[in-house]
Amino acid sequence: MKEEILKIKEEVQKHIEESTTLQRLEEIRVNYMGKKGIFTEISKKMKDLSSEERPVIGQIINEVKTKIVELLEEKNNNLNKKALDEKLASEVVDISLPGKKYNYGTQHPINETTELMKNIFSKMGFDIVDGPEIETVEYNFDALNIPKTHPSRDLTDTFYINDSIILRTQTSPVQIRYMLEHGAPLRMICPGKVYRPDYDISHTPMFHQMEGLVIGKDVSFADLKGILTHFVKEVFGDRKVRFRPHFFPFTEPSAEMDVECMICHGDGCRLCKESGWIEIMGCGMVDPEVLKYVGLNPDEVNGFAFGVGIERVTMLRHGIGDLRAFFENDMRFLKQFK
Ligand code: DAH
Repeated sequence: MKEEILKIKEEVQKHIEESTTLQRLEEIRVNYMGKKGIFTEISKKMKDLSSEERPVIGQIINEVKTKIVELLEEKNNNLNKKALDEKLASEVVDISLPGKKYNYGTQHPINETTELMKNIFSKMGFDIVDGPEIETVEYNFDALNIPKTHPSRDLTDTFYINDSIILRTQTSPVQIRYMLEHGAPLRMICPGKVYRPDYDISHTPMFHQMEGLVIGKDVSFADLKGILTHFVKEVFGDRKVRFRPHFFPFTEPSAEMDVECMICHGDGCRLCKESGWIEIMGCGMVDPEVLKYVGLNPDEVNGFAFGVGIERVTMLRHGIGDLRAFFENDMRFLKQFK
């Protein structure tokens, strides 16, 4: 029996040595050491042995079993280590390789200009305000003193949702909302999207405006000139500006503000149509009718307002010739504004 056991030992040893996977190793363990394994069978034969032989064989069996457990464990460790080494080798990271390049997006030029304008006005104490793009006819036109017969109310100039609801055609209705909400005094700007049914080189059905409003005691046209001149100089550098009389239903007196042409510096060129001036925004002293509409007393408070086209400012800042470039999402165009 001793020979039989030693033969089994050799056989197991060989199997263990030759095994290359953890799975195979487990098979070997079950086969020899498991409940129904070879050693269980052998132990059963012990009862046929003489009482002298039994302890001797018993000891041999124990020694062999201990040895096999040792060998299994050792092989198990080796196989695990080998697997880990292989895994590490396959997942090696070369930290000297150049990193992956991420394709960062760029800020849209309209947003970039909007941020610049917000920055300039917030430094002067203006609140930055939002208003709805779906607006009432009342706030977009009536409250702003725009006559019922004004052509801007026509179906050809305004997107109507129904008789009383439209897509706002200007950011000016936010003036009304903010005065109703805050009363006087106030300083606010409101950048945002506006809509008009137009599409050609210089018009898109959606574009951006920034409205501004200052209400307080004894606000003067000189305040308007001072603030707007500072704004234009911050955006376009130190250039001449001028205010031309104009008309808006919601301001009286009204003006348009021009800035010295950025191409010809006043000499006259194609951009400024030989005038030397570029029109930049509309402005004026808030009409008393507008103040009355929101419940403010024109004898106690007054103010000024202005409206700027954000596309226009962006085109002039960057020398962009075609308005439609802003909305075509051509990466070659957009990537230039890093
Ligand atoms: N809402 C005017 C427009 O869309 C722009 C404007 C002009 C706004 C004068 C004003 C202003 O607040 O005072 O053309």
